[in-house]
Amino acid sequence: AIDPNFEQNRDVVEQHDGHDVWGPVDEPEELGIHGTHVAVDFDICIADGACVEDCPVDVFEWVDTPDHPESEIKADPANESQCIDCMLCVDVCPVDAIDVDPG
Ligand code: SF4
Ligand code: F3S
Ligand code: ZN
Repeated sequence: AIDPNFEQNRDVVEQHDGHDVWGPVDEPEELGIHGTHVAVDFDICIADGACVEDCPVDVFEWVDTPDHPESEIKADPANESQCIDCMLCVDVCPVDAIDVDPG
């Protein structure tokens, strides 16, 4: 599962589409955590898609991650500022790849 304390345990190593990426990043095998308020651990995501389908405000967009061992697309929190803290994505992700910090 995603580390709920990733902000203490990781460093921001790059920006992607307006949000932080928390390392380590070593492409294509190691992609880090994308986003901060809505954080997706790309190294855990298996592209199940429940978060993309269920988010009521369309926070997530698919991004291509060719040659990543878990999946070749990931749910990117491209619109994390739109999040309404419903926690649905956290509940539906089968591999607990998402952390949302309300408030
Ligand atoms: Fe979307 Fe709700 Fe998840 Fe926020 S907590 S990203 S609104 S599903
Ligand atoms: Fe990935 Fe979980 Fe969404 S596996 S696509 S973060 S439901
Ligand atoms: Zn991203």
